[in-house]
Amino acid sequence: MATAGSGEAPHLPEELLWVPERCDARSAWLGHIPFGFWLVGALGPRVLVELGTHWGHSYFAFCQAIRDLGLPTKAFAVDTWAGDEHSGYYGDDVFVDVDNWNEQRFATFSTLLRSTFDAAAEGFDVSSIDLLHIDGLHTYDAVKHDFENWLPKMSPRGIVLLHDIAETRDDFGVHVLWSELVERYPTVGFEHSHGLGVVCVGDEMPDAILALLPAQWTDHAMPRVFQALGERLELMARSESQAGLIDDLQVENEHRLRIIEDLQVESEHRLRIIEDFQVESEHRLRIIEDLQVESEHRLRIIEDLKVESEHRLRTIEELLEIRTLLDTEIEHLRSTLARTQETVDVEHSTRMQLEETIRSSPIASFALRRRLP
Ligand SMILES: C[S@@+](CC[C@H](N)C(=O)[O-])C[C@H]1O[C@@H](n2cnc3c(N)ncnc32)[C@H](O)[C@@H]1O
Repeated sequence: MATAGSGEAPHLPEELLWVPERCDARSAWLGHIPFGFWLVGALGPRVLVELGTHWGHSYFAFCQAIRDLGLPTKAFAVDTWAGDEHSGYYGDDVFVDVDNWNEQRFATFSTLLRSTFDAAAEGFDVSSIDLLHIDGLHTYDAVKHDFENWLPKMSPRGIVLLHDIAETRDDFGVHVLWSELVERYPTVGFEHSHGLGVVCVGDEMPDAILALLPAQWTDHAMPRVFQALGERLELMARSESQAGLIDDLQVENEHRLRIIEDLQVESEHRLRIIEDFQVESEHRLRIIEDLQVESEHRLRIIEDLKVESEHRLRTIEELLEIRTLLDTEIEHLRSTLARTQETVDVEHSTRMQLEETIRSSPIASFALRRRLP
């Protein structure tokens, strides 16, 4: 046993420096994982239950410690894997992911119970659980109900962990329950990562756990050591996630650079097309100008032809008038000719009669011959 102030070299187990396999900078529990590793080693729970697992950041840290410390612990994670008002509601993909992770690493001792906390409680014997982590809905009523409902299941070595004892926003009420529990049980609380309360509900605590309690502290270093170790993990996760972000940004950057290069090539290509269009358009403009000149020239020819044609029309009209006059004249001459012909015919027949008369009368003939030509 190593207690603070005992004079012995403090026992600092290796697991304090382990890195969780499921390490995510977004996890609200990351800062408590070194303590979780240590607690599993120090308590050696026969049965461990977590109420509220979601992505499994806290649960799989417990499992990692159980596996790597070679403990005979049976572990159970209880969750509907549907979410709640505080964590938000989510789809089946979360359970599928958590289930795969569990199957691949911890299936020999870890069981996922997809049910409500109340329904799952019925499957556990009284006094059977050594370590219970409550991290479900964080309202005062919900967490008080969960604590009281599961309390009879806790063994004499039982420890209950409450997450979010330092969270006071909105209707978070774990801090209220915590202030009640510190009056009734030996407890130790951590303020970092939203706060974690350790409630020793059993009365047969291992020495290592008792050494954790504030009554044993000489320099109050213990919570700060776990906090510093937790912050180290948070920094590691954040730097890994930032490195991932930087890698992603680099990939994205290279991708955008390629897009910019492609756009440059495309833009040069379009510039050349525009220049070609300009040349073509100037050429067409010149053709249009030539056509305009040609068209004005033809217009002038058309106007000249119009003038010429009007002139010819007038000439034709004049000729037509002359022809009408001539026709009238001809008609007049014809009728004059006809009358003259009639006169000639009359004179001819008169002459014929006269000649006849002369032939038949020698005196008349003599007289006539003297008068007539
Ligand atoms: C804060 S999250 C758990 C976080 C997790 N411990 C971690 O390390 O990230 C709360 C989870 O509790 C579950 N939950 C809340 N109330 C529940 C209830 N009455 N029964 C079953 N699951 C519940 C929700 O589905 C949600 O996944």
